[in-house]
Formats: sequence, C-alpha cells, structure tokens
Amino acid sequence: MIRVCFVCLGNICRSPTSEGVMLNLVKEAGLAEAIQIDSAGTAAYHSGEPADARSCEEALRRGVNLPSRARQFKAEDFARFDYVLAMDAENLDNLQALAADASEREKCSLLRNFDPSSKPNQNVPDPYYGDEHGFQRVYDICEAGCRGLLAHIRDTHSLGEKN
Ligand code: 4NP
Repeated sequence: MIRVCFVCLGNICRSPTSEGVMLNLVKEAGLAEAIQIDSAGTAAYHSGEPADARSCEEALRRGVNLPSRARQFKAEDFARFDYVLAMDAENLDNLQALAADASEREKCSLLRNFDPSSKPNQNVPDPYYGDEHGFQRVYDICEAGCRGLLAHIRDTHSLGEKN
C-alpha cells in the first residue's frame, strides 16, 4: 500500500480538493487497493469541519465529492505516509520543521512540482479570502498536480494500468 497525505493550512480548501481529486483519479485507474489517500492541515483552527462549501461546490460541478474532515497534521503522521504533499512553501516549511529526520523530510514535496506544465516551486494559492474564481483555479491546479503525482507513483512503484 502506498500512502499519500495532502497538506495545506486549514485542511478545508486546498488539501481536501486534492484529496477528492486524487481519490477519483486513483479509482478511475483501478488502483484504489494500492494507493491510500488522506489530507490534513498544519493548523488546527478548523479541526472537525467538512471541506469549505465553496470547494465542495466547485468539486461537485466537476463530479468529485470531497469527503474530508479537517484535522491537524502531527509529527506521528510521518510514519503513516510515503508521500506528504504541501500545497505551498509555508506548509512545506512547517512540515519539514515537524519531521524527525532526513527520511521524514524527504517525504515532503510541493504538489505542483509533480505537474510537468508548472514552473518549479509554485504554490497552490490560498483561495479562502477570495471569490469563486479562486476556487475554480485551485481545482484546476490541484487536478494537474494530482495527475502528475499519480504518474510519478505509477512509474516509481511499477503500478501499471488496471483500467
Ligand atoms: P486551506 O485554506 O489552507 O486551503 O484550507 C484556508 C482555510 C482557512 C484559513 C486559511 C486558509 N483561515 O485563515 O482560517
């Protein structure tokens, strides 16, 4: 089993969107038994909350459900995941500061670095204080990153097409 966790600040907008998109891509690829997906936030402000209604609305418009409940990423989580995907550089810094050693730090990457069409080290912009266009853009960015991440996981772990 390969275990993936998407991480943003509040765990109500960007990382739940990535989680829902990735769940869908993995299911479509017939790899639901091989790849496990979760999300978390570096902060605990929204713990226990479902994804933001604006994120859910945009995802539903694309046929994707966002099942997450917000929780904070804890140092112990590193042991449970193979890939920890930060949505922005600040999330990445906070995650790397929580990591116990180099092997845990190396599990952390910026999601957009898996998108072959993105420049290096780009953030998924925080849509929380903006309008619905921001949520549409975030969905597209998360989808492109997740497609690239899935291709990378397939290559790295020799997971061929099942569907
Ligand atoms: P997220 O967005 O990190 O993508 O879930 C945010 C959610 C909440 C806040 C900031 C960003 N906040 O300040 O409460």
